[in-house]
Parts: sequence; structure tokens; C-alpha cells
Amino acid sequence: MDDRNGWDQDTTRSTGTTHSPPQSFVEQANVSDPGIYEAFEENRPACWERAADLLSWDDEYETVLEDEDPPFYRWFPDGRLNAAYNCLDRHLEAGRKNHAAIRWEGKQGERRTYTYRDLYVEVNEFAAALRELGVEEDDVVTVYLPMIPELPIAMLACARIGAPHSVVFAGLSADALATRMEAADSEYLVTCDGYYRRGDAFNQKSKADNARIGLEQNVQTVVVDRLGDDLPHVLGEDEWDYHELRDEFASETVEPVSREAEDMLFLMYTSGTTGEPKGVVHATGGYLAHVAWTSHAVLDVKPADTYWCAADIGWITGHSYIVYGPLTLGTTTVMYEGTPDYPDRDRLWEIVDRNAVDIFYTAPTAIRAFMKWGSEYPDQHDLSSLRLLGTVGEPISPRPWNWYRDTVGGGDCPVVDTWWQTETGAVAISTLPGIDDMKPGSAGPALPGIDVQIVDQAGDEVAPGEAGYLTITRPWPGMARTLYDTDEQFVAEYWRRFSDPDTGEWRYFSGDTARIDEDGYITVLGRVDDVITVSGHRLGTMEIESAIADVDGIAEAAVVGRSNETGDTEVYAYVSTERNRDANAAVRRAIFENIESAIGSIARPEAVVFTPELPKTRSGKIMRRLLEDVANGEELGDTSALRNPEIVGEIQAEIEADGGGRRS
Ligand code: WTA
Repeated sequence: MDDRNGWDQDTTRSTGTTHSPPQSFVEQANVSDPGIYEAFEENRPACWERAADLLSWDDEYETVLEDEDPPFYRWFPDGRLNAAYNCLDRHLEAGRKNHAAIRWEGKQGERRTYTYRDLYVEVNEFAAALRELGVEEDDVVTVYLPMIPELPIAMLACARIGAPHSVVFAGLSADALATRMEAADSEYLVTCDGYYRRGDAFNQKSKADNARIGLEQNVQTVVVDRLGDDLPHVLGEDEWDYHELRDEFASETVEPVSREAEDMLFLMYTSGTTGEPKGVVHATGGYLAHVAWTSHAVLDVKPADTYWCAADIGWITGHSYIVYGPLTLGTTTVMYEGTPDYPDRDRLWEIVDRNAVDIFYTAPTAIRAFMKWGSEYPDQHDLSSLRLLGTVGEPISPRPWNWYRDTVGGGDCPVVDTWWQTETGAVAISTLPGIDDMKPGSAGPALPGIDVQIVDQAGDEVAPGEAGYLTITRPWPGMARTLYDTDEQFVAEYWRRFSDPDTGEWRYFSGDTARIDEDGYITVLGRVDDVITVSGHRLGTMEIESAIADVDGIAEAAVVGRSNETGDTEVYAYVSTERNRDANAAVRRAIFENIESAIGSIARPEAVVFTPELPKTRSGKIMRRLLEDVANGEELGDTSALRNPEIVGEIQAEIEADGGGRRS
């Protein structure tokens, strides 16, 4: 097989050690009855009512699942609800108006607490303002904000008036923003003047301005003044100041729009196998039910908790587990704007300590960094408030898993390793912390009601211990409904490979490889497509390659992921130039500049290796697997299928001469 990630790459993953959840945790867990697996299995799809029951519905649904037109499933289709109502109003009605909803920790050490009442007021005011600007139900509003409270406020204001939001990660470039706004035909943008990066003011508005220049549509733009005098800005035509709008609509309230469960709540663009980002569409009812249910059952969130998911709201993790999941359950969600090592490497632990955080959820890349920095940083703080730890985004191997549990969790916190994707909407594989034993390095069993199978090329289940493709049969509430504007691509990307529409057997393909053990525990191995995860950002190698290929004088580029000493993935680029063109420093600079303007600095390669040619098969296909092995210093397999096998040695020599291709 010529998929990118080999099956056998990680035989060291499982240590064989399992940990049972501590009794003290089990006793207080939201879900602790092992019978739940069977209860779900025996009662499908009605079992998902348990998730939907965590929500307040305007009109109760009668049908749980409508599956006449697979893979376009409809969940709770005759129910109606509003997501902002579920996140705000109902907690006020329950007498919890003074309970903290968001505790925001700014980059400059600022702190702001929003009670549910505060959040309700501001969301209403901004919803009224959006309406006044012309936003109607089903208009897509693009939100291009860093981790400031106005980001979730804008999302909830959109949800309140039934306008789907499309949040674009603030670190992405002007071009990336423009592409997404154009694809979604979005005529509204919420952004800010800028934000602080390691103490320096960084201009965000100029990126937004550049994006708007290239767009055909007029864009009404709201600008949050984050930096004040540190970065003065002027407002032009169609531009509005966020705070002035709020003043204008002070104390106004807006009736939450009752949405059909299947109406779109938001769009989230993510990288895929094609060069173009995909607009993943999430529906209101099923998505909200699934994120609320998993926040309850997997993350064990309770209203009295202080809960912290240290992700960015610009990606799906933040949508589901900083905003919608915790707020639906009425808990206190911590929102952190900064980085883990500024002003010092104990920053996160200081925040945990000061806020007495109960639940902490982060990514393996962060955990590996903490481990590298050493236990002296967590040791400086009292972390005894922590009850549960979580990880998401990439496979985590046993060593950082154990370090996390022992050093951050004090040895007695369960750790949930949660597997899911932008497309699954919410967690699909994880141990239930109040029930299941944990096996470091393995995410755990599929959640109750989720049917994961690991299959071979033919779609047949593989034996335990063997690697295969991670697929899901039978629908689940949080699943993506389609790709914006292209049902066809939705079917092609996720369903066609393993489904047989003739027999009515539909099988979702995640793009991941995994293996399952005798107990049904799933170890995720990696992706098979051209997607790499760099510091928690999902990047399409094709997007990076086309940005490189746009540079004058470049013939071709191949981008792969390279695992560094810490275990983090870095972008590694192989580039061939056109005949008679030198691979000089100017070309290298142009490559970096092009990538930054097409995608953002997160996609900047760690290394650029110039080569006269890329290794290709006789049919002309670039051998990416081989290039990945070269980048990772792995032993190379059979190269006889290559048309130009001699090039491999040349590339290796170039890397050696160059100290890993790492000159910049
Ligand atoms: C990977 C992030 C191993 C996987 C929520 C998936 C994981 C991709 C895990 C989705 C995990 C996520 N163990 N791998 N616990 N969680 N992944 O869309 O490859 O940004 O397909 O969603 O991250 O990334 P996305």
C-alpha cells in the first residue's frame, strides 16, 4: 500500500500497564454504570435521547434519527432549539445568573470574568447590532479573532439570531481568510485591530483589510479594539467599532431564533487532501447534543466545576469544548489567550492553581513540551484541585501520558485520551473515566453508541493487533452533515471508499489508521492522507506545496511531516527548481513569504531541501512515503519502483551536508 503512514511504525506504543480509575473519582463521576455500553447497544438510535435530554428544546423532537437518504443523516429532525438559549438563558432561568461562565486570562496578565448574566447581556447586545448591520438568519458571519472574550460572544450572538458562524483561526493569513469568505459567500466579518504576541502588538486588521480587497462582495466589518493606543487604527467604509455598537444597543435583548435541529449552527474550514480547505457543516441539534453529552460523560463536567480546555477556539476543539459543551452544561470555562511559556514556563500551572481548575484538557504536543521543560514548573504550584485530565489531537505515547498523569495529575487523576475530528464534531473514542481502565498510548474503546471498526483495504475487519483503516458505521449525532455547497465532495471524501450504496451499507472513513486490541481498545496510528498536524494545527501538505510551487523558478515541491526529537511534527519541504535556476537564499526567502501569505506562519517549513528532482514512480507519482522516511532518518524500503532511484542518495547527501536541510 502506498499510504503515507506505515502500519508498523509504532510497535512500542503499548506498555501493557493499565490503570483503573480511582474509587474516589468513580464515586462522583457523571457516568459510572458499566451497563451504559449495553444500554446504548440495545436501544438504537433512541439511546441518543440521553444526549438530547441534556438540552432545552423549544419543540421536542419525535423522531430521533432519519436515515432515508444516507449518508445525509438527520438527527432529531422535527425538534427545534436555539444554541445560545441553551448556553445562556436557561442558566439564568435556573437562578444561576451570577455563576461565572467564562474566566478569561489575557496575554498581558489581564483577567476578566463573565458571569452567565454578563455573557447574556453582551451576546444580546451584539446580536442586536449584527441584525442592525443586516445579518439575517442563515447568513454566514466570519469571525477572525484571537482568544479574546469577544470571540465566543460573537459566536453566540450569531447562534442567537440563527446566523451560522465561520470562525477562521486568527493566525491564518489574509489569503486564507479571503478564500474561506469567498467559499462561504460571507458578507460579514468580525475581527480586531490586533493582538499581543510575546508582548508585541501584532496587526490583525491589516490582514483582514487585505482579505477584503480581493473579495467581490461588500463586507460589513466589525472591529474589536483590543490594543487601544498600542496600535491605533482608523475605521473605513463598512467598518464598525465593536464597543460603539455595544453602546448603541446597550441592554437590548434579542429573542433567540428557534432553529430546526438540522439547521446549520456553524461552518468550520479544515484541511483535507485537496488543496482547497473544506467547509465542514455542523447542524444545531445533533452537534449540541453530542458535545453536551461528551462533556458530561467523558470530561465529567459539572456546573460547579472550573473547567479548562487549553485549545484555540479557532479550531474545532475550542468550538466544542471551550464554548458549546461547557456552556451548555452551565459550568465555568477558562479561556486563555497566551502561550504556555510566557512570561514563564509555569504559566499554565499558575492559572490552574489560581483558578482551582478541576478539569484540564490539552494536546500531546503541549504535554511533550511540559515534559521536556521538566517537573520543576508544575511543582511550583498547587495542582491538587485537578480531578481529571484530557488529551486530544494526536496520538500520545505512554511516556508523556504517564508523565502527565503523575506530574500534573499527582498520580491519581484519570486521563482521557479522546479521539475525534472536525468532522465527527465531538469525541468518538475515549475511555469513560468513571468506568473504564486506562491503557496509556491507547485512546480506548469507541464511546457507547459509536461503531468503530478497523478494516483492511477491502473493508473487512482486521484481527486484533493488526493495523487498518479507522472507520465508523452507523451515524452519530455530532457528525458533519455535509461540506458547504458540495454534497458530492462530502460523499467522495468520507464515504465512497468503504461504502456499498447498493447494499445500503454506509461506512465513514476518518482518514486515520489504527489498531484495536482484544478488549476493543483503539490505538490511533496516524493519518493516511496528506494531512499533518503541527502544534495542534491541521495542515494540508497540498496547500503548502502549492504555495511553494507558486514561487518563481520552482518546478515542484513535496511536503512531508518529520518527527523531531520531542516527538512533534515539523513541516519538511523538498523542492526542485526549474532548469538553470539557482536554489539561493532569495528563493528560500520567497518560499517562506509565499507560505506565510497563503496560509500563515504556522505552516512555515522547518527545513527546505533542494533537489534536482523529486523521486518518482514510473507512472510519475511522487514517492512521498520515501521522502517521509528520508526526513525521519528511517531505513528506506524498496526503491526499485522508482524511475530515478539515484536521486534518493543525492537527497540524503544534501541533507547531510546541510545539517538536516535546516539552513534558513
Ligand atoms: C488526530 C481535532 C490520536 C487524528 C479534534 C484525527 C488523534 C485528527 C486524537 C483530527 C487522539 C485527534 N489520538 N490522534 N486522541 N485526536 N487525532 O480535525 O489524526 O483538527 O483524524 O480535530 O487529529 O484533527 P482535527
